[in-house]
Amino acid sequence: MLYLDNAATSRKKPISVYRRLMEKTVFGSQNAGRGSHKLSIRGMRDVIDAQDTVAELFRISRPQNIAFTMNATYALNMAIRGTLNEGDHVIATEMDHNSVLRPVYEWGDFTIVKANREGVVDPVDIERAIRPNTKLIACTHASNVCGSLQDAEEIGSIARRSGVLFLLDAAQTAGCAVVDAGKLNVDLLAFSGHKGLMGPLGTGGLYVREPKLLKPIITGGTGSLSDSVSQPRFMPDMLHSGTINTPAIAALADGVKYVLRHGAEEIGEKERELAEYVITELKNMGTVTVYGSENRIGTAAFNVGTLPSEAVAEALEPRFAVRAGYHCAPLAHKALGTSGRGAVRVSFGAFSKKSEAKKLIDAVYKIAKRG
Ligand SMILES: Cc1ncc(COP(=O)(O)O)c(C=O)c1O
Repeated sequence: MLYLDNAATSRKKPISVYRRLMEKTVFGSQNAGRGSHKLSIRGMRDVIDAQDTVAELFRISRPQNIAFTMNATYALNMAIRGTLNEGDHVIATEMDHNSVLRPVYEWGDFTIVKANREGVVDPVDIERAIRPNTKLIACTHASNVCGSLQDAEEIGSIARRSGVLFLLDAAQTAGCAVVDAGKLNVDLLAFSGHKGLMGPLGTGGLYVREPKLLKPIITGGTGSLSDSVSQPRFMPDMLHSGTINTPAIAALADGVKYVLRHGAEEIGEKERELAEYVITELKNMGTVTVYGSENRIGTAAFNVGTLPSEAVAEALEPRFAVRAGYHCAPLAHKALGTSGRGAVRVSFGAFSKKSEAKKLIDAVYKIAKRG
């Protein structure tokens, strides 16, 4: 099967990731911070090494302010639910994933800023949506549906000068674009570990510029301040309640080291070239509609004629793993004009090849010809 669903999770990982996961599962990296024995200290060292590595990638000066989570969804929930207090208003965008939209809708006092037909949000519209009680702007860096990139730098500078917190959802850009936490003025940065960073499933994280910006939404055993019934207010313990998955976190560090060695920008460029190759060829077919803007990551979304997106994905399976439907982003589909139908998404990863893209183009061509 040709795997073209890297926006969901990366299938192929660097060999060092599998090795580390096995080594740490079998030989140590035990419960970090739970005792002074050698294995616990080794686990703690693995977490610190992973923090340092992720900090280098996102150009974060305080690695201790990075907490590891199960995925980006947990990180986004911790950020949104943890920063909002009674009376606060929150801004999100149509291009956001349900991991942002659902907690925001549950919060109640929110504004969803519209995107254009190419899936791009105008930062001016975000600025206009700011109210005196706006506490947080949450925005995805790149759409998981069509790959369109948002102007995160401009949104971040609007947030900073307005005194509003900025939460960047880097689930789709971590590992394939430069994400500079300082330059983008992010206060909170959520990332998946298992997508472009090529860590194991069940990894992700949240960077918090200042621990005092949020309250933990889950409390419990952190291994620190054990004589107290109060949750520590320092990072990462504040957000590390319960046993963390040290073998997976250690393996995630290896995925990030691969990205650092090969360059996120260079990996992203290769993925984008493959997406652009597919887009150009699909557009040439005449009956295929492609969505998204030119400023994109290596993800493309399309529909063939009037066929339902699921029918196209079904016709592509079992040779290709692609994703049809709504991709947990219903409002993005509204913006793109694909509500009621969804779209077929193909997403490239660090190990994708041009030959795979070519095979996909040939297969779509046959479907489009059949109609
Ligand atoms: C933009 C975006 N945000 C958040 C998520 C949630 O990520 P995770 O699967 O790591 O929870 C995804 C997953 O596809 C995503 O694409």
